Amino acid sequence: MTAIEASGLRKSYGDVHAVRGIDISIAAGETVALLGPNGAGKSTTIDMLLGLADPDSGEVSVFGGPPTAAVDAGFVGAMLQTGALIRDLSVRELVSMVASLYPSPLPVDEALELTGMSALADHRTQKLSGGETQRVRFAVAIVANPKLLVLDEPTVAMDVEGRRSFWATMRSLASEGRTILFATHYLEEADAYADRAILMAHGRIVADGPTNEIKAKVGTRTIRATLPDADLDALRLLPGVSSAERRGEAIALSCADSDAAIRALLAEHSQARDIEIVAAGLEQAFLELTGDGAHSEPSAVPPAEAVT
Ligand SMILES: Nc1ncnc2c1ncn2[C@@H]1O[C@H](COP(=O)(O)OP(=O)(O)O)[C@@H](O)[C@H]1O
Ligand SMILES: [Mg+2]
Repeated sequence: MTAIEASGLRKSYGDVHAVRGIDISIAAGETVALLGPNGAGKSTTIDMLLGLADPDSGEVSVFGGPPTAAVDAGFVGAMLQTGALIRDLSVRELVSMVASLYPSPLPVDEALELTGMSALADHRTQKLSGGETQRVRFAVAIVANPKLLVLDEPTVAMDVEGRRSFWATMRSLASEGRTILFATHYLEEADAYADRAILMAHGRIVADGPTNEIKAKVGTRTIRATLPDADLDALRLLPGVSSAERRGEAIALSCADSDAAIRALLAEHSQARDIEIVAAGLEQAFLELTGDGAHSEPSAVPPAEAVT
């Protein structure tokens, strides 16, 4: 059973090509991170998947039909990046009102409990902090008892404790067989909570797969060593090495095969010391994949923003 099927999606705003032709297929029960720097096109993609924005071209279906039909049926809960809560209602009134719109909602108390809002249920929506507002939006998303949850940068305004309990709730919702798609620019969130990551940059998908496969896509390990006089061009040619950089007296070699590389390095440069071999994180995979895209195609986003 497919939860989301999209093909050839494109969307421009004037001459900004926000999404440049993407295909996404998400099976029911998957937890998928849509990962990319600010401006990558994540929110535009989500808006099209939910039927909130019309693609310039391409097709979307959600549970086999148009997104709006799936939303109207209560199959989809969404937490978007923008949009204020209705004012002058208590948290409980707002969540109850949303629950009343759907055929088989969760009990309101359960939605409040799951999102940590029980103690604040009688507070007016306009009196809440940023993190509390996010939790109410989360409650609004789950009270429909949806089969698919779509969350756009859900933890942005939350503090550390808020994030921890948010992800604990997400894990339990996922374990009930719900499908979850969340956009994030926090690499560690994608790494920790998704089965699969779809990396977006400049309106395109640059990688899509299990997070461990994405790590394997670029140099799997980095060798660092103190080696003041070595020639970078020569290091790059060592077996197993895919790129070499210098930072002061230290060198860093990204390796496709670190076993071959370390043998060759020591054979040619026995004076190398302080040697470390570290596994590449998703962060490095992400920077290499999106960094390559930036060479061929100018981006409005400086590379440093990719990691904020
Ligand atoms: N309503 C809009 N009008 C004009 N440009 C927009 C609009 N929405 C998004 N964009 C532009 O489209 C690009 C992708 O934005 P967005 O989908 O919000 O990316 P992300 O969610 O990954 O940060 C950005 O360059 C952004 O400025
Ligand atoms: Mg966004």
